Amino acid sequence: MTNESTSQKETIAVFGAGGFIGSHMVVALIRAGYRVQAIDLTLEKLEDDWDELNTSDRLEAIDIDIRNHRDRVEEIVRGADIIIDLIAFANPSIYVEDPLGTVDLNLFENLRIVELCHKYDKFLIQYSTCEVYGLAQDREDKVFSEDTSNLILGPINQHRWIYACAKQMLERIVHAYGMMHDLNYIIIRPFNFVGPRIDYLIHSRADGNPRVFSHFMSALLLDKPLPLVDGGKNLRSYVHIADATQAFLIALENRDKLNRQIVNIGTPNNETSIRELAHLVIRLYEEETGKTFTQGTVDIPGEEFYGPGYADIDRRIPDASKMAALGWAPTYDLEATFRESIRYYLEHNTLKAGD
Ligand code: NAD
Ligand code: UGA
Repeated sequence: MTNESTSQKETIAVFGAGGFIGSHMVVALIRAGYRVQAIDLTLEKLEDDWDELNTSDRLEAIDIDIRNHRDRVEEIVRGADIIIDLIAFANPSIYVEDPLGTVDLNLFENLRIVELCHKYDKFLIQYSTCEVYGLAQDREDKVFSEDTSNLILGPINQHRWIYACAKQMLERIVHAYGMMHDLNYIIIRPFNFVGPRIDYLIHSRADGNPRVFSHFMSALLLDKPLPLVDGGKNLRSYVHIADATQAFLIALENRDKLNRQIVNIGTPNNETSIRELAHLVIRLYEEETGKTFTQGTVDIPGEEFYGPGYADIDRRIPDASKMAALGWAPTYDLEATFRESIRYYLEHNTLKAGD
């Protein structure tokens, strides 16, 4: 896939390259002709595309824990042209089980990367979250807009909010570096991306507590009821990872226009309650496999499913106009998004019914 005509493009360091978003981003960047340094604890999720990636001399795989290799992290930032930071704990169960670990990684470790970008004058693309908007939907805003919506979080004893709080603090520091020291950056707020390679399948909760699609897919494959937290009454708007990666590429290529801005990446038309989502994925699973799924759903209280300190967000609809103005138009509707996600895990089934 090496394209000599594009070989002059910049070197991009992707921190968190082995995660769900990162693994799609790395392939897209290599295809677009960039040099990529892929940094993560593990790069196993790149294996799906390894045949293609392996033939590129523009990919450098760097499997390190950034907390234990600070000199290496500094060397990477100094040598790259653009820094993308995806590293975070990104599952609500972790925010509830390990709030200190969450703030340590998602704020303090990421802050080191921000400071290095300032020190070496590098362009930073920082992945934040739609969760920073918090409860604003209930209070005043019909859609979440980057520059006008308030950010409203719950009480301290609902420590799920430490994730949004850490991400918000990081955003505020990045903004202040831009104001006071001319740091060049874009902050991206993703709204529930989903698709191939999101999280992992589980036999039971003893294997971990990933995001909702992985729970639903695992339950389908194991022929068990799909767990609905608090009845699945809350709403989310989903973005297929291919659309999300395309939005990222557009933002990257328009980084002069978006410099020192925050952008939502979300698809308002793909809104669903989690209960409706459960029924959609059951139908799609039946269509894809030709099997009949009779287990249905089971309701579980949030604090039982996640533990004390869990809180949920009723609804979050993005104002997607900034990305639309740059020509981004998502192509996957809700059904296509989940059909493809199901197909991927049917082909990559690490579970067996009856386990
Ligand atoms: P992910 O968990 O799949 O990816 C994060 C990656 O960071 C993982 O591969 C993990 O191994 C790596 N990592 C964690 N600690 C590390 C360390 N100490 N050293 C090196 N690598 C480390 O999550 P994702 O869904 O790909 O999300 C990426 C980013 O986007 C995160 O910042 C997340 O908060 C944000 N985000 C994602 C979504 C979404 O819909 N997926 C939504 C909102 C925000
Ligand atoms: C996610 C995570 O915080 C991050 O990935 C990210 O910042 C952000 O939101 C995002 O993806 O934009 P959330 O949407 O709550 O948070 O993540 P899920 O764990 O996928 O939960 C979605 C909904 O499904 C919640 O209402 C949850 O209670 C519910 N749920 C979860 C179930 O009903 N059943 C399950 O088995 C798991």
